[in-house]
Amino acid sequence: MIVKILWVSRIDQEGAAHYLTAMALLSIILLPDPVLRLTAAKIERVDDDLRKLADSMLETMYDAPGVGLAAPQVNVSRRMAVIDVSDKDDGEERSPLILINPEIVATGSGTDAFEEGCLSIPDVRVEIERPSSVTVKFLDRDGKPQTLVADGFLATAIQHEIDHLDGKLIIDHLSRLKRDMVVRRFRKLARGEV
Ligand code: NI
Repeated sequence: MIVKILWVSRIDQEGAAHYLTAMALLSIILLPDPVLRLTAAKIERVDDDLRKLADSMLETMYDAPGVGLAAPQVNVSRRMAVIDVSDKDDGEERSPLILINPEIVATGSGTDAFEEGCLSIPDVRVEIERPSSVTVKFLDRDGKPQTLVADGFLATAIQHEIDHLDGKLIIDHLSRLKRDMVVRRFRKLARGEV
């Protein structure tokens, strides 16, 4: 089992100010907003409006910064997510992935554990063991069916984002006590008590 810290999400006060000025940046929904717990609806049509949403989600994800963002996190309860696990610090080119109606159709037998963060739960990281490889079917931004075999951190990111579409969050992997503590803290934050 390998454990790596791969992404850290945070509340960025200056970043938050951009949301008011740049139209393409979307507000990220935080715990405990109930939209994060819904099962997102299947997307019936890939059209320009959906592509625009996907592009805005990518911009929002890069700005945050994060490596994945699911539509429910921007208050759209539909089955779409964006991911880019390329290492920008290493000068790697961006490699954005748009997953529409993604579905895992096979998993490898091994597992990997990564410490995962989530833009909707800033400053919380949870070590989660998941299948180390997955085969995912989805529609791309042109509505064409695609099949991708992913392993390593990309496999984890895909599973994390698909969990969002089913209303599942990283805190569901914590003990009930720890999960309740996190939820209480974010409820207070939402009420402006912290
Ligand atoms: Ni997340």
